[in-house]
Amino acid sequence: MNKGREQWATKMGFILAAVGSAVGLGNIWRFSYVTGDSGGAAFLLIYVLCIFLVGLPVLLAEFSIGRRGQSDVVGSFNKIAPGKPWVIGGVLGVLTSFLILSFYGVIAGWVVYFLYSYITGSAGAVEEGGYADFFLNFIGGSVGPVFWQFFFMALVIAIVFFGVKKGIEFSNRIFMPLLALILIILAGYSLTLDGAGEGLSFLFTPDWGAFGEPSVYAAAVGQAFFTLSLGMGAMITYSSYLPKETRLPSAAGGVVVLDTLFAIIAGIMIFPAVFTFANVEPDAGPGLIFIVLPEVFNQMGTGGTIFAIFFFFLVAIAALSSAISLLEVSVSYLMRKMNWERRKATIIAGVVVTLFGVPSALSQGGPLTFTVFDLPFLDLIDTITDKYTLPLGGMIIALFVGWGWNQVDALKETGLTDSVIGMIWLWFIRIVAPLGIAWILFLNIFS
Ligand code: PHE
Ligand code: NA
Repeated sequence: MNKGREQWATKMGFILAAVGSAVGLGNIWRFSYVTGDSGGAAFLLIYVLCIFLVGLPVLLAEFSIGRRGQSDVVGSFNKIAPGKPWVIGGVLGVLTSFLILSFYGVIAGWVVYFLYSYITGSAGAVEEGGYADFFLNFIGGSVGPVFWQFFFMALVIAIVFFGVKKGIEFSNRIFMPLLALILIILAGYSLTLDGAGEGLSFLFTPDWGAFGEPSVYAAAVGQAFFTLSLGMGAMITYSSYLPKETRLPSAAGGVVVLDTLFAIIAGIMIFPAVFTFANVEPDAGPGLIFIVLPEVFNQMGTGGTIFAIFFFFLVAIAALSSAISLLEVSVSYLMRKMNWERRKATIIAGVVVTLFGVPSALSQGGPLTFTVFDLPFLDLIDTITDKYTLPLGGMIIALFVGWGWNQVDALKETGLTDSVIGMIWLWFIRIVAPLGIAWILFLNIFS
């Protein structure tokens, strides 16, 4: 039945692709503004705890489901537990990845527009204090946001079109080392700025009061899921292209450590810059990298434009490698379900998700600035996925592996057989992760 199903060329290729999926807008755009809004170091500490207590066990669970199922996210659940309701977790995954990609492509489009504007010089020419207008004028337009969303999505579709080895694995082999290099150079430069001490203490010296705020915990769990690409089947889909004998724990550990390092180093790149220029604040919300950082680049002089070009290039590449994993969830599903070839599945899924993103692209001051439940369309989709479907998907996955599979199978699939670590993992996936997630869902629903 699986004859001819695609596979990764190497285990390293798989790990790089999984890191590529994990490292994205979540680590730079989202991580920086959520950290900025949630008070810095206290949030960071809770976030890192969530990553290791909830994120890592769930990631290993997703890897095990995919590798065992050897199918897309719905197919994998069906194969492991035929006729059981667990498959809802798979269906939710396809839906959530579709929804996320629809607005992810919009924000990535903004990033590409900024890259383009710094290269052509138009962003560098904006007057000091003018970046809020520059950004708001752009996202409030009726052509620009859609044009750049389409441009970005065309790249995503092109890569997925070439398949697991030649498209996804190959591009990640180039992107990941490049990302690490640019990030380290930029962070190193940031550390030489006057505000480095203040930036670092914002990031690493906790304000203990924040530990009493439930909203900080909710934000941390949401961010942990988003940043590790969990709860929507991307990691299940990627691991389904692994041969059955691959060992998973080291791969899961590697992805978690690299994603976390990437976020922290991104913080080291961003906050010293923010604190060096006294008139900007760290809690600027989603506009942090589009308004605050450009003000910072502006004040850096000529070097600022070069920094900006590298910065937006870095963010664009990180977004691209994540977006391809989001599209692959639907593509893999359609290939099996509809029996379509990859090319057909890629073009249809890619075009539909791009069109579904158009209302988001036009919702930020553009012609479709209506609100639903008080939220513009983009924010609505972001909220639905971040607060509800991602945690719910993650909970179903944890419960499925912890309780739906028998203990022996689950341990065998993860490769943690009989060890103390295996037992710890099992109880995290059975109790700690589901309870933690349930509590967050409760907070999100009732507050
Ligand atoms: N993990 C990605 C990021 O941090 C976002 C993402 C979520 C990608 C879900 C794939 C699946 O930006
Ligand atoms: Na991430």
